[in-house]
Amino acid sequence: MTIQAVRGTRDILPDEVGAWHRVEAAAHELFARYGYRELRTPVFEQTELFARGIGAETDIVSKEMYTFADRDSSSLTLRPEATAGIVRAVIEHNLMNTDPALRVYAIGPMFRRERPQKGRYRQFHQVDVEAFGFTSPTIDAEVVELALAFLDACGVKQRELVLNSVGDRACRPAYVERLQKALREIATSLCEDCQRRVETNPLRVLDCKVPADQAAIDALPRITDHLCSACGEHFAEVRRQLDLLAIPYRLNHRLVRGLDYYVRTTFEVTSNELGAQSSILGGGRYDGLVKDLGGPDLAGIGFAVGLERLVSLVPQGEPAPRCDVFLMPLAAGALDKALGLQRRLREAGLRVLLDPEGRSFKSRMKQADKLGARFAAILGDDEMARGVWTLRDMAQSTQWAVDTEDALVEYIKEKTHG
Ligand code: HAM
Repeated sequence: MTIQAVRGTRDILPDEVGAWHRVEAAAHELFARYGYRELRTPVFEQTELFARGIGAETDIVSKEMYTFADRDSSSLTLRPEATAGIVRAVIEHNLMNTDPALRVYAIGPMFRRERPQKGRYRQFHQVDVEAFGFTSPTIDAEVVELALAFLDACGVKQRELVLNSVGDRACRPAYVERLQKALREIATSLCEDCQRRVETNPLRVLDCKVPADQAAIDALPRITDHLCSACGEHFAEVRRQLDLLAIPYRLNHRLVRGLDYYVRTTFEVTSNELGAQSSILGGGRYDGLVKDLGGPDLAGIGFAVGLERLVSLVPQGEPAPRCDVFLMPLAAGALDKALGLQRRLREAGLRVLLDPEGRSFKSRMKQADKLGARFAAILGDDEMARGVWTLRDMAQSTQWAVDTEDALVEYIKEKTHG
């Protein structure tokens, strides 16, 4: 029996990879303009980092983590998201002491044991952006602007920014208590998941998608009506600056997000072209997380983009040309000359292939065609005897003799790179 990829994982095939390169290149280029530098953290960490960082009661930690015992029986987990690992690295290397504008980003695979469906995988990829040490609402607006600029750079036009404030440690506990009280009164009419969350994590009830529950949940007390004055002012200023930047958004008081570390600003960008898994990116502020994980009292804010979802929205574009010139050494001894030329052409920046199996002329012409070769360079008995190459323009079906390898390299270079 053949072995297949694990359910919920997928291969990114060579025909698809161009779009991935484009979004990754856009990230490197754009984020540098905003002062962000790349940071690479391991794909596995100690389990405790995620339990403490993301919250033991979240779905991610309680149900979705790939956790395993190492041989020394310590518990390790494949990262379900990037923020916790980045915070750990910031603390471990004291990055805040050496970088006065600590802004980092990371790109890589994440792992969550969710039920696979279109746009939802067990191994997926994120571009993750984090800024540390800024409490001002100006950075909230800048991070949101950066998220949208990234989507723009990738050519994603159909999208909606959804915004909320979830309060902070001063005002949220009283709100959650009020919410829980209200929920207990209606709990029996809600779905099973909600009934459990009323006791374990009442805020998550606001995230429920079960149609029958919606009217009752909409009528619950709203966090934005219970913000303390500091959170209220912060949120008002974030909104004012977004208006200033002409960034439209929809307020949604039910946007609580699936990770416990958020305070104040939370946001998501959705696209109705994505189907059920409509969230392209999500993020927010997480002041307090760095301290909770043993570091200094450092504010933090960021977002992560799901790359599978982003790539599915990106215009496909022309595939990169595969082969500028296909070499056809046909005569005895021609291969040796072709190998030398192949190297020269590649050193000149050209894309070169030949058929190392030495199949028939007809078969090689077919290959050249299929590979989209712009030129074929033929070295048969006649060419060997005359000391020339025949160069064939594949699209025009014209061919002519070229006297020297220098001339051949120059000609193809000129035609290809212009
Ligand atoms: P998140 O909302 O859990 O946030 O994930 C961010 C994005 O990752 C989602 O909007 C989605 O595009 C993608 N994503 C999540 N799960 C899957 C999956 N199973 N399959 C495919 N794509 C998925 C975070 O991870 C936070 N760490 C974001 C953040 C950074 N907040 C502050 N800084």
